[in-house]
Amino acid sequence: MLEIVTYPNPVLKKKAEPVQEIDDEIRRILDEMADIMYQKDGVGLAAPQVGISKRIIVVDIGEGLMQLINPEIARISGEEKKAEEGCLSFPGIHVEISRPEDVTVAGFNEKGERFELKAEGLWARAFQHEIDHLNGVLIIDHIGTIQRTLLKPKLRKLEKAV
Ligand code: CO
Repeated sequence: MLEIVTYPNPVLKKKAEPVQEIDDEIRRILDEMADIMYQKDGVGLAAPQVGISKRIIVVDIGEGLMQLINPEIARISGEEKKAEEGCLSFPGIHVEISRPEDVTVAGFNEKGERFELKAEGLWARAFQHEIDHLNGVLIIDHIGTIQRTLLKPKLRKLEKAV
């Protein structure tokens, strides 16, 4: 059974490897990731967060499960909006992050079919957050020095918990 990996585990900072073949092993990992996401009440989860450095994510903002393989942000549009984000790899931490409101995501589904979809609002935010994980980008990489200073005690706690 896979388990959530939390900050400061180094796997979270690694650039994840593209999936070469969408097989039963990948589908098994995706299904297990979805189970963990629902169990933890998350809206998304990226494979590095369960210690697997592969480019796969699951997202569900409460409107149905999406399992994406080698996802990319193909286009961004709309204005940048600020909103609070949490992350299962940063328990107890929430930060305000500014992101584009609309994105087009390209990638493959669990059947190996290529697709492109337009996402807005919380969907767009969740996709950007999870795709960030595949590039080793974390919520604390999006905040300024003041927010980061305020978070220091909480981050220290996570660092010591390892
Ligand atoms: Co996250």
